[in-house]
This record gives sequence, structure tokens and C-alpha cells, in this order.
Amino acid sequence: ESLSSSLLEIFYTAGEIARNNQQKVYVVGGFVRDLLLGKPNQDIDLVVEGDGQSFAEQLTEKLKGVMRYHEAFQTANISLENQLSLDVVTARAEYYEYPAALPQVEKSCIREDLYRRDFTINAMALCLNPDQFGDLIDFFGGREDLKNQQIRVLYHFSFIEDPTRIVRAVRFAKRYHFTIEEDTMRLAMDALRRGMVSRLSQERFWHEIMLILKEPNPIPALQELRYLNQRTDAMPQLENFELDEEAFYFAKNAADWWRENLKTPCRLDLLYLMILLLPLPESWRAQITPKLNIKSHFLQEMEKLEEVLPWVIQTDFQTLAWSEMDEKLHEFGAEALLYCMLKSQNRSRKKLRQYALKRQACKVETNGTRLIELGFQPGPDFNRILGQLYRMRLDDKIHTKQEEEAYLEQWKRGEKQT
Ligand code: CTP
Repeated sequence: ESLSSSLLEIFYTAGEIARNNQQKVYVVGGFVRDLLLGKPNQDIDLVVEGDGQSFAEQLTEKLKGVMRYHEAFQTANISLENQLSLDVVTARAEYYEYPAALPQVEKSCIREDLYRRDFTINAMALCLNPDQFGDLIDFFGGREDLKNQQIRVLYHFSFIEDPTRIVRAVRFAKRYHFTIEEDTMRLAMDALRRGMVSRLSQERFWHEIMLILKEPNPIPALQELRYLNQRTDAMPQLENFELDEEAFYFAKNAADWWRENLKTPCRLDLLYLMILLLPLPESWRAQITPKLNIKSHFLQEMEKLEEVLPWVIQTDFQTLAWSEMDEKLHEFGAEALLYCMLKSQNRSRKKLRQYALKRQACKVETNGTRLIELGFQPGPDFNRILGQLYRMRLDDKIHTKQEEEAYLEQWKRGEKQT
């Protein structure tokens, strides 16, 4: 009932292809968990008993999608027109050569495939073959655990083999307001005390923390991890952060405001990351940032932000012209600008919001081609001239193309050169 007809159509198609190939296909993992919880989830993972690659090729053709095959992981990703994307894998068993290693994989059946997973609530599948369409495959009591609202591992070595699951357990528990089942908690504490998390690469550890920052409210999970660290000393990386609840709350509202009013994306997780990292001494931050899988331009923006921050904190923006603000802030995207709002005085925040809107609406109509038509010589002056037009538009000194051109005439006559 809760699935869209287009998604159902995809599932029926997948089931038919599998039947024709004498295979079985299942939708698995988080999608099934969230379906049973009545929560929307667009991450569709299909598991095929049999050759997943040729299945994925046929499904791609039928759905007129685009497929990418990742040889290393033996997974296929199918992108569809309506922004949906499906991951297809062959049912697999995993084994770990040593604790905290990346897993080795081999072909297998759905039961083995589900057994290797992290928690019972993530280890359910729905069959898509026509004769079993919608049958729930639940070998390990996932549905019961959903009902009892608990996070439970499937086997004793789960956290030893993959210590990232300790962080995942906390993340899911806080997301759904579940508890970590008693034995599972004991196993997690045991793995922490045995130093399993320190065997993970820093990249994997920080990847999990970034996933927490993608949650609408990451604070409870971060607090819980800190508490676990206090008891075990297993995650010293988390010791130095200040968990400023008020700042996180501000950030959430500010990001909502941005999306609603500027209608452009804003990465709340990156804003949260700034709140965590920017108050740290630079030397500490420098140890963390190379481990984060984040675009370098964002890290550069964060450095720039640190330079400008003392000015942001001290300045009363009410007294500034838009172009004066722009001089310091023009390089900043949504997240950095919202961070400035967080750090600025109350009376300045409104002006910063207006600046964001104004900057977005500010368009200079003259371009390089038009300057040449008007008789200007191409060269470095072009940037100066266009920059000047932009500042004048921002400050409402000119409003139209005609006014731009009138100003350019004055420039040409040498009356305006600054
Ligand atoms: N999984 C696992 N161990 C991990 C990571 C993932 O067993 N360390 C399994 C789980 O069964 C999970 C599936 O792989 O359901 C897909 O992983 P992921 O996309 O990270 O998890 P989701 O459950 O979809 O979580 P989210 O809702 O946060 O996307």
C-alpha cells in the first residue's frame, strides 16, 4: 500500500526477469526495515541468487536505465529516469581474513547473504519472484526485533569482524529510538575494550561519524559514543569535540530556512561538521580533515572561514553596505554563510539572511561580448568593470541594463574608474 506504482512496476519487472532466468531476486536491508516501519526509503538493494550481473543487464534494458558495473565490489548500479537508483548484487557470503579487515566475498544463497549482515532489523528480505511476490524472508527475527524496538547482532563475532558496526548500532538506535539489546551491548563493549575500533582505518571511522552527521539530529548518537568512549577509551578521536546542542539546533533551522528561501541545496551534515571542527585547535583539525572523504574546495572554504571569523563575530553588519559584506563573504557557499550567521551577533543575523537572498538575486546583465560591442578593449579591466557593475547592483545604485550602460558610458569617458 505504501509503495508507489512506479516502484511496484520495477519490482514486478525484476521478479519476472528472475523467474525467466530461473533465479530468485529479493529486495533487502534498509529498504525492508523502513517499509515495515512505515518510513520512506529510496535506497533499493536487490540481491540475486544466481548471476547478478547478467540479471542487472537485463533489468537495465527493460527499464531503459543506465548501468554501471563495479568490478571490484561486483555490484551493479542502475540509474533510472525518475532519479531512482537500484543496486544489484549476487547473493554472497563474506569472510574476514582477520579482525577489522575488509571482507572477502564468495557467491552464495539468500540466507548466507542475510546472515553476514550487521543487525537483525537489517537482515530481512522481500522476495520479488511472481510466485512469492512480497513474501518476507526473516530468518533471524528481524520483525520481532523491530516490534521490540531493539538492535541485535546476528552472531557473536559481528563487532570483532566489523567494528564500524558499533558506531552503526548507536546510529540506528538513536535514529529509531530503539535500544541496543543487552547481549549485543555486551559484545560491543567487549569489542571496544579489546581495541577493535583502533584497528579500523581512520577513514572508515570518520566515514561512520559522517553518516551520523547525516542524521537530522546527530547529537544523541554522538553523546552516546562519547559515553561509550568514557567507559572504554576506545575512541579517543571523539574526546575533544564540544557537542554544542544549541548550535546544532540553530543549524537545522538555518538549513531549512536556506532550502525554503533560496531554493538551492544546503548540506546540513557539512554545517554540522563545521560546528564540530572549527572550534578545535588547527593542529587537531589537521589530523582529522585528511581522513574525511570531502571535496577539497569545502575544506578550503572552511580554512577561509576561520580567517574571516573574528571579523564576523565583531562586526555589526547593520552598518555595512551589501558590497562591503560581499567583499569578505562572496566566496562562501550555503554552509559557510550559515555558519557565519550562527557566529554573528543577533542583530547581524537578519542582515546576513538578506545578504544571501540579495546576492542570489543580483545579476549583472552586461557581459564581455557586450563590453566589446560598446568599444571596450578586452583585457584585465573587464573583470574590474564587471565587478564594479555587480557591486553597484548589489548596493541598489543601478537597477537595469540601461543604467548599466549609462554607467559604462561614463566609465568610457573616464569619469568613473573605480
Ligand atoms: N551492512 C552491514 N554491515 C555494515 C554496513 C552495511 O551488514 N558495516 C548491511 C546492512 O544489512 C545494511 C546494508 O548492508 O542494511 C546496506 O548498508 P547501508 O546502505 O549502509 O545501510 P542501510 O541499512 O540502508 O542504512 P541507512 O538507512 O542509514 O542508509
